[in-house]
Amino acid sequence: MSLIKETDYGTPARIANITVTAEIDGQPITVPAGTSIMRASQMLGVKVPKLCATDSLEPFGSCRLCLVEIDGRKGTPASCTTPLEAGMKVRTQTPKLAKLRKGVMELYISDHPLDCLTCAANGDCELQDMAGAVGLRDVRYGYAGENHLDAGKDESNPYFTFDASKCIVCSRCVRACEEVQGTFALTIAGRGFASKVASGNTNFLESECVSCGACVQACPTATLTEKTVIEKGQPEHSVITTCAYCGVGCSFKAEMQGTEIVRMVPYKDGKANHGHSCVKGRFAWGYATHKDRITKPMIRAKTTDPWREVSWDEAISYAASEFKRIQAKYGLDSIGGITSSRCTNEETFLVQKMIRAAFGNNNVDTCARVCHSPTGYGLRTTLGTSAGTQDFDSVDEADVIMIIGANPTDAHPVFASHMKRRLREGAHLIIADPRRIDLVKTPHVEADYFLPLLPGTNVALINAMAHVVVTEGLVNEAYVAERCDKATFETWRKFIAEERNSPEATEAMTGVPAADLRAAARLYATGGNAAIYYGLGVTEHSQGSTMVMGMANLAMATGNIGRLGVGINPLRGQNNVQGSCDMGSFPHEFSGYRHVSDDAVRQMFEEVWKVTLQAEPGLRIPNMFDAAIEGSFMGLYVQGEDIAQSDPNTQHVTAGLSAMECIVVQDLFLNETSMYAHVFLPGSSFLEKDGTFTNAERRISRVRKAIPPMAGLADWETTAALSKALGYPMDYKHPSEIMDEIARLTPTFAGVSYAKLDELGSVQWPCNDKAPEGTPTMHIGKFVRGLGQFIVTEFIPTDERTSARFPLILTTGRILSQYNVGAQTARTSNVVWHNEDVLEIHPLDAENRGIREGDLVSLASRSGETALRAMISERMQPGVVYTTFHHMKSGTNVITTEYSDWATNCPEYKVTAVQVRPTNRQSEWQEHYLETRRATTRVADPADAAE
Ligand code: SF4
Ligand code: SF4
Ligand code: SF4
Ligand code: FES
Repeated sequence: MSLIKETDYGTPARIANITVTAEIDGQPITVPAGTSIMRASQMLGVKVPKLCATDSLEPFGSCRLCLVEIDGRKGTPASCTTPLEAGMKVRTQTPKLAKLRKGVMELYISDHPLDCLTCAANGDCELQDMAGAVGLRDVRYGYAGENHLDAGKDESNPYFTFDASKCIVCSRCVRACEEVQGTFALTIAGRGFASKVASGNTNFLESECVSCGACVQACPTATLTEKTVIEKGQPEHSVITTCAYCGVGCSFKAEMQGTEIVRMVPYKDGKANHGHSCVKGRFAWGYATHKDRITKPMIRAKTTDPWREVSWDEAISYAASEFKRIQAKYGLDSIGGITSSRCTNEETFLVQKMIRAAFGNNNVDTCARVCHSPTGYGLRTTLGTSAGTQDFDSVDEADVIMIIGANPTDAHPVFASHMKRRLREGAHLIIADPRRIDLVKTPHVEADYFLPLLPGTNVALINAMAHVVVTEGLVNEAYVAERCDKATFETWRKFIAEERNSPEATEAMTGVPAADLRAAARLYATGGNAAIYYGLGVTEHSQGSTMVMGMANLAMATGNIGRLGVGINPLRGQNNVQGSCDMGSFPHEFSGYRHVSDDAVRQMFEEVWKVTLQAEPGLRIPNMFDAAIEGSFMGLYVQGEDIAQSDPNTQHVTAGLSAMECIVVQDLFLNETSMYAHVFLPGSSFLEKDGTFTNAERRISRVRKAIPPMAGLADWETTAALSKALGYPMDYKHPSEIMDEIARLTPTFAGVSYAKLDELGSVQWPCNDKAPEGTPTMHIGKFVRGLGQFIVTEFIPTDERTSARFPLILTTGRILSQYNVGAQTARTSNVVWHNEDVLEIHPLDAENRGIREGDLVSLASRSGETALRAMISERMQPGVVYTTFHHMKSGTNVITTEYSDWATNCPEYKVTAVQVRPTNRQSEWQEHYLETRRATTRVADPADAAE
């Protein structure tokens, strides 16, 4: 294995219908019009020296190192800023150019520390390379003149250092922050000799910087360097893999020394991220080798017993014997399992296979139940496929972007940067959210319409938008006539045109001014290509599925599905939520969303798996807890999912878990669920195994093993061993064989193989004979279900109501540095940004309650009570409070209720009636939790253990 170095073409690729042909150093070349001479030269393998140019950024022309000569033209233009023109004859290497370049390099080097041999960037420094390339051996001016060699270091950021003495003021970092990340945190302050890079008037940590690392990647010197590189030295080989955090699915090069990760560098050929990343994927990977990792299997008879380390064989055979004992006593359906949206497709497929084939029932569910199950239901019902319609690059063609119930800059940061680029180019923006998210107003981006709706009123809002479309003659009649079901459309049209659905009639419910809503609806319907992006603010409601169908109705009525730039796009939370759903993790569906009651499908699985399968759907997660409390569900296998922390109404969940006789937890850490477990099987991180993840665009990307599994087995091997112990052997030698089986049994995956993924980098399903290289855009020409189905979406307010006792509404979400529950990011330096969950509250609500910034407040609902610190914030509207659910001791899900989506049981996390009051102590639940945690585990709270 070697270190993968991608070619830097110096300037970005251009897309043009016309090409130009010219000659560079005597070699002919044809390129799209607008291509720089520098890029064209590199395409020929001719390297022109450069410092201020890199192909992720627009050319700047400041360093004057890339000069060339052009026949018939005076002077020596910069090749990075000069486009190649038809018939040009360019020379990149002449004595005159060599002299000029050497002079430029002399100036740079005379003001640069000459500590190359001890510099962290030695061997990976473009300044060093360029000095070599121009043949610089000495500096005529000496090194004693005025210089910046004493300029200080800024080491405030936990992940990278800024050493100003090494800065050549090329402004690549400033431009990366603007063009790639879209944060505009850096500037070049001062002029001439005094010019320097500044992160506002403060250090990096305190600045607007979001630690995406784009500047570090762009810096050609050691000025901006990862602390891990300073500490460990330069990497020596790399492995291309996929981020294990969010549903963007960024590709990375894991750069290594032996079996140790030195840094993660976003991969330029990654089709989801095009070489960009966020703080989590690039920097927050230390959890993978954190000291809290459990690397030995453990068992115990009672949850109050201390854990006992045992061999893999003993743990697996104990788990199998317990499951068999429970089934013998309580029946075949008394056990089940939960698959993980963090594990690979192959691992998820194996878990559901083990449950159906070895447990002999369909009691399998997934954590997607609690996030995007309404997406699957809603999009399948209306369009025919349980997934988003576009690839991320489609946003480049969008003229109107509507974001509903999502906060991309925090939860899907790399796609947010892509989206911001399109918005800076002039696309319009509509945001519907109870909270003033960053995108409402961020540097150079401002929403045309911000619709601050009250939590729980999504369906009223989308109906009102559709009402405007229908009653103002904005329906795309030709599209609807050609592509949609006439009868359902007419029924829907009649319903939606009723006055009770108008913006004026719904204003009192939604809180959104009717005039704004009308204007936003007109913009969506008439502004060109209109694309909807949405998140859990849509799905985690009692009408989550209804809202998804409401968005589909609106998009179909306006003709905004089935081409680039449009569509309905769920922003998936966890790395493999899409995949875990695709792989048959729901109790009623096999992989590829085929119902277990479909005889032909079931027979196909029975033939391949050589076992009889149940035709009845099994239990969903909430039903498993109910059945446990009733005494009929007694054993659970949970892979990579912390249900005790992430599921709503914690006290009900823990009552269900406590009632079970054997819980097998497979995870990296002793998570909250393991407090109730009897067998702990150590998991493997994404760095320790082969497999695939499927991101929010339906893109299947390879996960590749970079280091050996710390506990000896990858997760798929553990599941296979347990299945074998239960009497159903699984003999796979490599995850590629599991993918081959998935492809054999799943029509939308029929063309997927590891060989194809290695060849193409990634593919978007459906990938089969009809689409051998995958399907970036769905529903072109025709919906997957045939005719698009309109569904009447009656707004039914949730049963969770505010009252004099609980007058505020709590809604929950995620912030940039935190990933879901804290298992991973709470064990990284990301805790420097937020080491606890806080309650955001509007100044008016705070003042009415005598609450000041930082006060401890009690947050109580009909389900329970917890205590958090208050953060007074005008992001909130009066009457609505917000928090995250990262740290278990915050107990956010002690507060949330058991109300759920009518179709899928997805919990209503986003609407809980609460009261907030000053307090000076933790809640009873928090005190009880800490005691229980101490009694049932041997590690402290992850937040306290962060490094
Ligand atoms: S890390 Fe990202 S946000 Fe921070 S200054 Fe660099 S480019 Fe800007
Ligand atoms: S920090 Fe690096 S990228 Fe930024 S101006 Fe200095 S040398 Fe260039
Ligand atoms: S955007 Fe998501 S997938 Fe990409 S680096 Fe960040 S967390 Fe990872
Ligand atoms: S690389 Fe062209 S001017 Fe710097």
